[in-house]
Amino acid sequence: MNRKEYLISQFSGAVSLLLLGCKHEYIAPKLIEPIKKLIFTQVIPEKAIEGSTLQIYWETENIDSLTIYDRVNNSDWQPIANNLDSSIGNFEIKLPTNFDPNSTYSVKISGGGIEAIKANIMTEKVTLSPFIEIIKIEPAEAIAEDKLIIFFKTDNIQNVLVELKNSKGDFLDVKTIDAKTGQFEFNLPNKFDLDETLSIIISGNSIFDLIENIPTFNILKINTNDYSELASINGIQKVISPRGDIWLKRESAIEMKAFSGQCTHSGCGIDYMKADNNFNCPCHGSKFSADGAVINGPANLPLNQFRCIQVSAEEFKVIY
Ligand code: FES
Repeated sequence: MNRKEYLISQFSGAVSLLLLGCKHEYIAPKLIEPIKKLIFTQVIPEKAIEGSTLQIYWETENIDSLTIYDRVNNSDWQPIANNLDSSIGNFEIKLPTNFDPNSTYSVKISGGGIEAIKANIMTEKVTLSPFIEIIKIEPAEAIAEDKLIIFFKTDNIQNVLVELKNSKGDFLDVKTIDAKTGQFEFNLPNKFDLDETLSIIISGNSIFDLIENIPTFNILKINTNDYSELASINGIQKVISPRGDIWLKRESAIEMKAFSGQCTHSGCGIDYMKADNNFNCPCHGSKFSADGAVINGPANLPLNQFRCIQVSAEEFKVIY
């Protein structure tokens, strides 16, 4: 074997060995898992203010639905929303109303096997302002022997002090009541001084509301058996009250009218002229009809009228 033949035989052997060492195997292509992403982008506001809302915003990739959890301090995570469509990107959390001082609040969102946590958001307690307002009183005036109902509303107050005071500064009634009741009833006295006014004050937690200058009225009880003229329809008779003369006119079995005895011109006392069936004023000559309308001046306003309420067949009360 010459040198050329020797080299060929060596090369052929090497190729044969190389070919014998190779195997033809099928290698399956490896599936690549898509990259998932779940992050908070914003949490607004920066503090968790009790009773308010916390807006959370996120970004996701390759995650369909999310679950949102929250917790206070290191308590267990509590789910607050399930199967949330991740593409909406935000959620509003209604925060608890009773954070302990110095507690922290955390939020977690999870989905697709991964999660994001916004931890240890400082909490803030809210001191709610007290509020009191008197809505109305019924009736709008204080009538002796009657009741006065006060309607009020409050916020963040447990008990209120309700006071009824007259214009001289005397307390007629004082009570502490549960603020939630929203109303209170006063039993008014049997008699008021002339031109006395009342005030109602409702207070609590260092704030108050009041109504002043509530007018007062007294009651004059009339038994028609004591007034002969009032026994018949259209009968007119004078009664005397602490507020001056009052002229009563029997309108029907169930109705009585009551006119002030003061002329509307300058306040002189009027007289009833039965023959003319009208009222005359001796001072400047004004005349008024039996129904109080002006017949002759100088008065140009009708006689003032008081309310008169039937109590029984013979009894009426004049509110003056
Ligand atoms: Fe009665 Fe003048 S006061 S008319």
